[in-house]
Amino acid sequence: MAAGSAMVIPGVSATAKMKDSHPASSYPSPRKGSGIARDFKYNSDGSFKVLQLTDTHVVFGDQRSERAYENVDKMLQIEKPDLVIHTGDVIFGRPAEESLRKILGIIADHKIPFAVALGNHDSEFGLTRTEVLDVIRTIPYNINTPADKGISKATNDVITLSGQGGVDRVLYLFDSGRSIEVDGGGYDNVHADQIEWYDSYSKEFTAKNGGKPVHSLAFFHIPPAEFDYSLRLAGNDGWTFIGHMGEHIGCSKLNSGLFQAMKLNGDIQAIVCGHEHNNDFVMQYMGVMLIYGRFSGCDTVYNDLKPNGARVFEFTSGQRGFTTCVRLNSGEIENKVFLDPPMSANFRAHKEPKEK
Ligand SMILES: [Fe+2]
Repeated sequence: MAAGSAMVIPGVSATAKMKDSHPASSYPSPRKGSGIARDFKYNSDGSFKVLQLTDTHVVFGDQRSERAYENVDKMLQIEKPDLVIHTGDVIFGRPAEESLRKILGIIADHKIPFAVALGNHDSEFGLTRTEVLDVIRTIPYNINTPADKGISKATNDVITLSGQGGVDRVLYLFDSGRSIEVDGGGYDNVHADQIEWYDSYSKEFTAKNGGKPVHSLAFFHIPPAEFDYSLRLAGNDGWTFIGHMGEHIGCSKLNSGLFQAMKLNGDIQAIVCGHEHNNDFVMQYMGVMLIYGRFSGCDTVYNDLKPNGARVFEFTSGQRGFTTCVRLNSGEIENKVFLDPPMSANFRAHKEPKEK
């Protein structure tokens, strides 16, 4: 696909205009104490841009990390997003605190608000997940809320985006953990208590929106098993695939039911993950877009999908769909698509008749 051009994919209509410049936000770095990390407003032209960084794998003092620093700085310079979401594996070595400050400090230098959903590796270098989050929260422009919500793990957050009529888009961040404490379970996933937490927010937003689900996206590191299911169902109606696939899906072998909760609520348009450095594809499963970020890191870890880069999301006030593309470190744009996934909760269409 030629750089910069837009694409139409089956089940996904329309294209969006390419946008090369965007005013940067200038939030200082406050946070709300209510559980909502931040309520953002659309820009005056109705736009809002999110840059997804993922798998930077920085090791402080290691020359190989320079490539990640350069890439993150370049992505921010080119895209000038309103918000950065890092979907984890921020670091890949000790000293953890210095590594975190070095890479995330680049976002702060650009004065752009950012949130992190931790990866499996982030808690492997001397700090627990909560300690890692505590460090991150001291970096200017970070908007993550404290870990202590009475639920599993650390980086679970709700970010809202409001237009003139109030909240019209929600971004959920989940901490998908490291490895699951079950023999043979492999990678961790989003646990039942985190799903309940999401469910309560989701239902509240829907109730406040007159019973209509609010368009939402979920960001976390380890893809759920539905990424794997979707690949196995390749070729079925509604299956969509765009982008690069260079490795298998590294999901948990267990399914905690997150996707089912999302479908029942009917609000999640896309699940956006990292974790696999050689994948950056977009596919559709049961009306939900399953999206990989683009590897943003360096050679402290495997990465065959070159060059590095980042994924961009563009939202427009009042518009259900959204645009996403990959911005490459070379400066080119790849696989730009306008996604307008169905929002219906399919299960409701097949309700059982009431029992007598
Ligand atoms: Fe990684």
